[in-house]
Amino acid sequence: MEILSVASEVFPLIKTGGLADVAGALPLALKPHGIRMRTLLPGYPIVLQKIGKATRIGGFDNLFGHPASILAVDHHGLDILVLDAPALFDRDGGPYVDKAGLDYPDNFRRFAALSLAAAEIAGGLLPDWTPDLVHVHDWQAALTPVYMRFGPASGMPTVLTIHNIAFQGQFGPTVFPELALPPEAFTVDYVEYYGDVGFLKGGLQAATAITTVSPSYAQEILTPEFGMGLEGLLAARLSGLKGIVNGIDADIWDPRTDPNIAAPYSADKMKRRAENKLALSKRFGFDAAPGPIFSVVSRLTWQKGMDVLAEAIDDIVENGGKLAVLGSGDPVLENAFLSAAARHPGRVGIVVGYDEPLSHLLQAGSDAILIPSRFEPCGLTQLYGLRYGCVPVVARTGGLADTIIDANEAALAARVATGFQFSPVTADGLRLALRRVFALYKEPKAWARLQAQGMKSDVSWDKSAERYAALYSGLLVKG
Ligand code: ADP
Ligand code: GLC
Repeated sequence: MEILSVASEVFPLIKTGGLADVAGALPLALKPHGIRMRTLLPGYPIVLQKIGKATRIGGFDNLFGHPASILAVDHHGLDILVLDAPALFDRDGGPYVDKAGLDYPDNFRRFAALSLAAAEIAGGLLPDWTPDLVHVHDWQAALTPVYMRFGPASGMPTVLTIHNIAFQGQFGPTVFPELALPPEAFTVDYVEYYGDVGFLKGGLQAATAITTVSPSYAQEILTPEFGMGLEGLLAARLSGLKGIVNGIDADIWDPRTDPNIAAPYSADKMKRRAENKLALSKRFGFDAAPGPIFSVVSRLTWQKGMDVLAEAIDDIVENGGKLAVLGSGDPVLENAFLSAAARHPGRVGIVVGYDEPLSHLLQAGSDAILIPSRFEPCGLTQLYGLRYGCVPVVARTGGLADTIIDANEAALAARVATGFQFSPVTADGLRLALRRVFALYKEPKAWARLQAQGMKSDVSWDKSAERYAALYSGLLVKG
């Protein structure tokens, strides 16, 4: 089976969040199922630099007013196709925002171009390859199924995966004439969305099947609270909607071989984990007092409940805990953590920024990772936590609820607990959970059992890759 995957970020070439991890890991996980997945992504400068020499296998004289090429390269086992269109992607800032943090004003054109290029590949642009099916991720790739409907690949099945319905790619109606779509696409059956143009909305209408990244989130987005305006449309497409939980790349996230941590360890050799705790303490300038170290590796945003955590920091310190934060985002939240660090020297530390190696040391060296998200389609850091014996303390929502077994009385007695869940997502909700964490941490045997149980959890892609493979096969049979 030949599949074209389309994503705006793919690890290890470019990453701002979990989408990149998923887009980079799924193709590898599908290989044993006889599926060849080629991944199309934009040619941002960093991507072109990382891939080095690549072969031009096709192109456009005029893609939204500019010439563009499709480059092909094998990158660490990933079959990569790059849309090299300098006028659209050769920019100074990140993939979506400029250096000042503002959205590029032509994002609609940049990602429409990605989607149109994908649809053209599906329609036979490349001399030697056409896919059997196209799998697109999030709003940036969501116009692909819409373009396909109006082109030569109109009968080819498509899958659209929602990684976060809060980001929909909604633009004013004036962009429509620029999208090179026929007038009938600007209707409620396609991209028209309350008078605007909705990229995700159009994709959800046009895709053959819709998935999201956990079964709980698939349910949640059917409600007004989580559906962000798209709940009605999703309800109408219920039979095509499915939640498949993410896995992790177990080679990159392996405490036995991880080059980013201070000392390797495994479930049966946990003693050396302490060396990582020490290295982490040094890095964050913590004092030598005993007690649990809590960590955060996150975008610092409202979605992630970081304001709630900021309110509970003093409690963590009062109870003898420490807090190490790695993240960036909302300046108000960055400042809240910076001022907590100033208030609690040796106890609270924050590294503002994005640091992939440090994110590994935090999983290896801290005792528990805090994820108080208001909503979380899947979440990956709790899965890394499980693998690294770093106990996840999570909000009971979305993929967090699906992947962590709360250490309640029953689960502890049955020895199946892997972490802590809490709700509501308020400072008091979190404080109550922290009380349970501190109590269990004081019982070394029970704590070690919690870690061991977590490390045994299957966080690999195996089962989920099988589910995607079954979904693709089903669609191809139907088609
Ligand atoms: P989201 O995609 O919503 O941000 P996920 O939990 O799915 O949330 O994925 C976040 C990914 O980004 C994880 O791989 C996490 O380790 C990584 N990450 C988040 N913030 C940082 C940071 N400041 N430095 C390094 N890695 C980070
Ligand atoms: C999104 C979600 C996150 C999910 C990731 C990968 O960024 O916010 O929960 O894990 O996509 O699917």
